[in-house]
Amino acid sequence: MDDQASPAGVDPNVPNVARMYDYYLDGKDNFASDRAAAEQILKLFPDTRDSARENRAFLARAVRHLVESGVRQIVDLGSGLPTRGNTHEIAHEIAPGTSVVYVDYDPVVCAHSRAILGKGDNVTVVQADVRDPETLLAGLREHVDFDQPVAFLLLAILHFVPDENPDGAGAYQIIERLREVSAPGSYLVLSHAIDASPDSTPEALEIYKRATEALSLRTHDEIARFFDGYELAEPGLAFPKDWRAVEPPLFTDRNTSIGYVGVGRKL
Ligand SMILES: C[S@@+](CC[C@H](N)C(=O)[O-])C[C@H]1O[C@@H](n2cnc3c(N)ncnc32)[C@H](O)[C@@H]1O
Repeated sequence: MDDQASPAGVDPNVPNVARMYDYYLDGKDNFASDRAAAEQILKLFPDTRDSARENRAFLARAVRHLVESGVRQIVDLGSGLPTRGNTHEIAHEIAPGTSVVYVDYDPVVCAHSRAILGKGDNVTVVQADVRDPETLLAGLREHVDFDQPVAFLLLAILHFVPDENPDGAGAYQIIERLREVSAPGSYLVLSHAIDASPDSTPEALEIYKRATEALSLRTHDEIARFFDGYELAEPGLAFPKDWRAVEPPLFTDRNTSIGYVGVGRKL
């Protein structure tokens, strides 16, 4: 994106979590500041790039599981910049009628998503901040029938939301509100970063603090609490390589992930 004029309201000198993640995935939608911050993270956590790919591979398996289980409404919260294997592409391979709503608060993500993803049937892009659940839900009501099961995907986003949030709802409050509005048989799909290497973590936290969002890393038990009121699908809250991998692990059988993933069905 270096050759393009920055979209209104975007400071290319401040690293941004969506564009750093795009860089981990070998995307082109990032600025020099994003690449520099991402390279600092890669020095501290060399597995970050593989972890991002494992996360995307999990997304594909989880979306297939949802659609094969009969879900026909998917809301991808914090969907990120379009990449290979986007949610609607995976869902529509199995059931083209599945409605997919992409939500992100980042104007660049939404503009790219509208340009690239928003052309097909049954695909919508909504710009909203999950820390303001009532405005988010008001924006979703036009596209989602909450009397029917819906799957909320929150992949690699909740660790940007603290428990107590001076700017809006905290992470647990958001998930509770989503559960309240969901019909029985709805799903919650999470991937969430953990404190994978305590020695390097303080430095990584500083890098993310200088980017658009600070990190709130959580433990296995703290992530599992998000699934209160849901039945976790086998194998439970796991490393991505252990979550119903049909192919051999992407890189090695060593865990490269810096987070846990899970899929829950509302009771
Ligand atoms: C690391 S990316 C993950 C992208 C995608 N979900 C995935 O796992 O491949 C995190 C995304 O969450 C978005 N995000 C962070 N905080 C958000 C918030 N409060 N509301 C909506 N989107 C948010 C960022 O803009 C970014 O696009």
